[in-house]
Amino acid sequence: MSGDINRQIRLAARPVGLPRRSDWQFTETPVTGPRHGEVLCRVLYLSLDPAMRGWMNEGKSYIAPVSVGDVMRAGGVGRVVATKHPGFAVGDHVSGALGLQEYVSLDGAQLTKVDPNIAPLPVFLNALGMPGMTAYFGLLDVGQPKPDETVVISGAAGAVGATVGQIAKIKGCRAIGIAGGPAKCRYLVDELGFDAAIDYKAEDIRKSLRAHCPNGVHVYFDNVGGDILDIVLAQLARRARVVLCGAISQYNNTTPIKGPSNYLSLLVNRARMQGMVVFDYADRYPHASREIAAWIAAGKLKSREDIVDGLETFPEALLKLFSGENFGKLVLKVAE
Ligand SMILES: NC(=O)c1ccc[n+]([C@@H]2O[C@H](COP(=O)([O-])OP(=O)(O)OC[C@H]3O[C@@H](n4cnc5c(N)ncnc54)[C@H](OP(=O)(O)O)[C@@H]3O)[C@@H](O)[C@H]2O)c1
Repeated sequence: MSGDINRQIRLAARPVGLPRRSDWQFTETPVTGPRHGEVLCRVLYLSLDPAMRGWMNEGKSYIAPVSVGDVMRAGGVGRVVATKHPGFAVGDHVSGALGLQEYVSLDGAQLTKVDPNIAPLPVFLNALGMPGMTAYFGLLDVGQPKPDETVVISGAAGAVGATVGQIAKIKGCRAIGIAGGPAKCRYLVDELGFDAAIDYKAEDIRKSLRAHCPNGVHVYFDNVGGDILDIVLAQLARRARVVLCGAISQYNNTTPIKGPSNYLSLLVNRARMQGMVVFDYADRYPHASREIAAWIAAGKLKSREDIVDGLETFPEALLKLFSGENFGKLVLKVAE
């Protein structure tokens, strides 16, 4: 509360390749606020996202980069500890861009109330949060899957990918996941109901895709880019839709991004490839959240979080996303 110390993590330098501990600065400032119209939150859980790597780079993107010296941007959930906004009461739980810190005072208009009776708080950073919204709109609006079509998902055991595959099943499609390692592949099939999973670290992806998708790939939901995108492009079905959601295999490159050489498959198959940014769907989040919450309540959709404890562990925890050590949505616990 006001007068307490707020521990923060700031961007100290723009990284080259994988971020290092020296790219971060740990600072302490007194907790201030809230001012008129603001809400002071105790940060409880923070979302660790592959996109953070992009926000650390200079240059034009779908969102401004984090400036060197600023508190690192991070989505999170927190508890209201003081309020000068009529829409919030002390004890309410909220989500928003809270940043890598223990306390934040934000305009109430930038916060959304969340109800911990609907789901545990970390789920609001996963299936009921930004990754869930990405999966919902990326698959349904951009991918436009039809029953019996084959949907292939890369990064399938991660936050976005696991929800994409489960929604594909709910919509009557076949879901084929691509993920790293036998444990993640077993999880996709045995626990999430995917029709098959391909371990890209151990299998010949080309051969396995042909075996699991005898009629070609109708929707490819791409989270990883690079070689896997190229391989899937070569196996598209007529009028396939490729959803460009992310390209995590390329985010730490120190050489130019590797583009697909098989792009003429789009021409041959009258297919399309379309990028999506989740924030464009913000006005429809409430609808998607209600539908996903109903699927969770009905036991049709599972949300798995991988929770790492302690703000100070952030620099190493973030790297798990790029080594594949996270199993489920990576969440940093800051406080109870
Ligand atoms: N467009 C949007 O609006 C939007 C919004 C949210 C997220 N995204 C994107 O969606 C993707 C998934 O994000 P997420 O939050 O759900 O992360 P996540 O899948 O929970 O975690 C990242 C996973 O990526 C896999 N990976 C890492 N390096 C890889 C490589 N070189 N090749 C193949 N797989 C690799 C790892 O899984 P394995 O163990 O299987 O290798 C890792 O666990 C990211 O590309 C992210 O940028 C886009």
